[in-house]
Order: sequence, then C-alpha cells, then structure tokens
Amino acid sequence: MRPRVLLSGLTLAALLIGCGSSGESGVADDAGQLVSEAEARALYIRKCSLCHGEDGKLMASKSPDLSVSTMTLAERVALITYGKGTMPAQKGILNKAEITAVARYIDRFRD
Ligand code: HEC
Repeated sequence: MRPRVLLSGLTLAALLIGCGSSGESGVADDAGQLVSEAEARALYIRKCSLCHGEDGKLMASKSPDLSVSTMTLAERVALITYGKGTMPAQKGILNKAEITAVARYIDRFRD
C-alpha cells in the first residue's frame, strides 16, 4: 500500500514540474540578479497561469482569485517559496529574486 501512495505522489510531482518547464534547464540564476518585468511575466505564465490564469482569476485546481488577494508581498513570497496544499513550492526551482518578481507581478491583478 505504501509504495502506491509514494508512486502517485511522485507522479503528481512530476506532472506539476513537467507542466512548468518549457525546455530550458530551469537552473536558477544568481539570487541577486534583477528580474525584468518581461521575465516576471514569462515566469508567471509558465509556472502559475495553469491554475491562476493569465489574469489571476482562473481559479483552477481550487486556487483562489489572485485579484482579490489581500496578502502582503512578504506573505506571498513565503507562500510561493514553500507552497501550500496543491500549490507547488518554488524553492529550488525559482531563485529568491524570481520568486519576489512573480509575487510582485500579482499586484497588477488587483482591481
Ligand atoms: C497546481 C495549481 C497551482 C499553481 C501551479 C500555482 N498555484 Fe498559487 N495557489 C494554488 C492553490 C490551491 C492556492 C490556495 C492554497 C491554500 O490556501 O491552501 C494558491 C494560493 C496562491 C496565493 C495566495 C492567494 C491568497 O490570497 O490566498 C498566491 C499569491 C499564489 N497562489 C500565487 C501563485 C504563484 C505566483 C504561482 C506561480 C509561481 C502559483 N501560485 C502557482 C494553486 C496553484
């Protein structure tokens, strides 16, 4: 019974990771590097729009509407870094600067 649980967990993880990658290595740049607006958008589209949609309002996989999120930037950075529920952690996938840039990008969805 246990191996089956483990296997389905791995399959899910592989699916989640697989959805986000589009051919490049995915290796993070230096944490101190500045991330441009265009890069932040590209990261968001690649890693987040699957559930949250291009405008943050898709609400797929039980994800909340980001346009009405009241989380602070620091709270969003923590959530994106460590994940929660079905939302995948980005630690080790995106670097700190990229996570912060994506967390900032969400501000544009607020009405
Ligand atoms: C597999 C689907 C999925 C993906 C991909 C995903 N999320 Fe989420 N997201 C969720 C779910 C589900 C929640 C709700 C988590 C909870 O509170 O249990 C959530 C919550 C959030 C919240 C909190 C909103 C609030 O106010 O409660 C933010 C911000 C967020 N996601 C940003 C992102 C960003 C940025 C990315 C890309 C790096 C991302 N998400 C990728 C599913 C996803």
